[in-house]
Parts: sequence; structure tokens; C-alpha cells
Amino acid sequence: MLVALTGTPGTGKTSVARILEKTFKVVYLKNFKDARIGYDKDRNSYIMDLEKIKKEIDNIDQEGTVIIEGHFAHEMNVDMVIVLRCHPDVLKKRLSQRDYKDEKIMENLEAEAMSLITSEAILIHGKDKVFEIDTTDRRPEECADLVMHIIKTGDKRFAPRINYSEEILKWY
Ligand SMILES: Nc1ncnc2c1ncn2[C@@H]1O[C@H](COP(=O)(O)OP(=O)(O)O)[C@@H](O)[C@H]1O
Ligand SMILES: [Mg+2]
Repeated sequence: MLVALTGTPGTGKTSVARILEKTFKVVYLKNFKDARIGYDKDRNSYIMDLEKIKKEIDNIDQEGTVIIEGHFAHEMNVDMVIVLRCHPDVLKKRLSQRDYKDEKIMENLEAEAMSLITSEAILIHGKDKVFEIDTTDRRPEECADLVMHIIKTGDKRFAPRINYSEEILKWY
């Protein structure tokens, strides 16, 4: 089974995935360096060949549970999507510690407040396969425990829908 661990940058995907490595095989989409097809200077990030990565992911040995980590992991052919979320005020603090331009921080805060990744994931996979975890007041270890619980049980009670859209009203 393939499980996408996705979310806006700064929501804690890599921190949680490192813990999950103790239990599952974890594939980091960032490491698909041969799928880099350009560089976006404005965003300080690589442009990746999604179709190429998709094919490589399709060829992974899917015995057991494999976690696919990355902010576009939900675009892969996966069986379940777990979206890490973070309150925009806290996300701003986390992203300010990176060498991101103000514009890039704002773009990510807006994406998070609009639930962009969750919406994309639901469009692609349907709502039953998409789970959200709020990382705002949880340590990465607790988030990893929740991920394992969701994978084991498919239990929606621990992954309620998250909505930060009212935060946007405070910005303008
Ligand atoms: N649950 C959490 N609580 C507090 N800080 C966190 C949490 N998860 C991640 N962080 C911090 O937030 C920053 C971004 O985390 P990271 O795992 O790199 O996110 P991502 O991989 O989604 O971009 C790091 O500085 C990390 O230490
Ligand atoms: Mg990361």
C-alpha cells in the first residue's frame, strides 16, 4: 500500500517521515534528482517532471506500507493521502526560519489557509481516502503516532477536516 504524506511546506512532513522510517519504508520525492527539469528562481525550488516520478513510484515494490513524502505526494497513484496542516500564524514562524522570500512565505500561508493541498487531494482521490492531521500543537512524534493509527484503522475521528480560511480575513 502506498500512503502519500503531503502538506504545505513547513507543516512538518520531513520531521514526521524521519520518525516513520522506524516503521515503514519512506520515499522522499525531493530525492528524485533525475526528474529535475528546471529551476524556479522566484520560488527557489526545482521544477520536477511529475509524470516521470509517477512512473517510478508506480514501479515501487508495494509490499507492506510505503510512505511517499513530499508536497506533491498526493499527485502520485496512492491508496491513501495524509495531509499535514498547520495554523498559518505558526506556519509563518516555521517558514521564517528558512531562507524563503516574503512572497514565498505569503504564498504558502495563503495555500495553507485555503486548504489547497487537501482540496487537490480530494479532487484526485475522493474524500474517503484523504485524512488531515493538525500539527500546530503536536510534536512530530505525536503526529507520527497519529499517522500510524490512521494507516492501521482508517479512523476518521482522529483526522477531522481542518479549516483556517477565516485567518485570511485578518490579512487584508
Ligand atoms: N509538529 C511540529 N511542531 C513544531 N515544530 C515542527 C513540527 N514539525 C516540524 N516542525 C519544525 O518546522 C520546520 C519545518 O518542518 P519540516 O519537517 O522540514 O516541514 P516540511 O518537510 O513539511 O517542509 C522545522 O524547523 C521543524 O523543526
Ligand atoms: Mg520537507
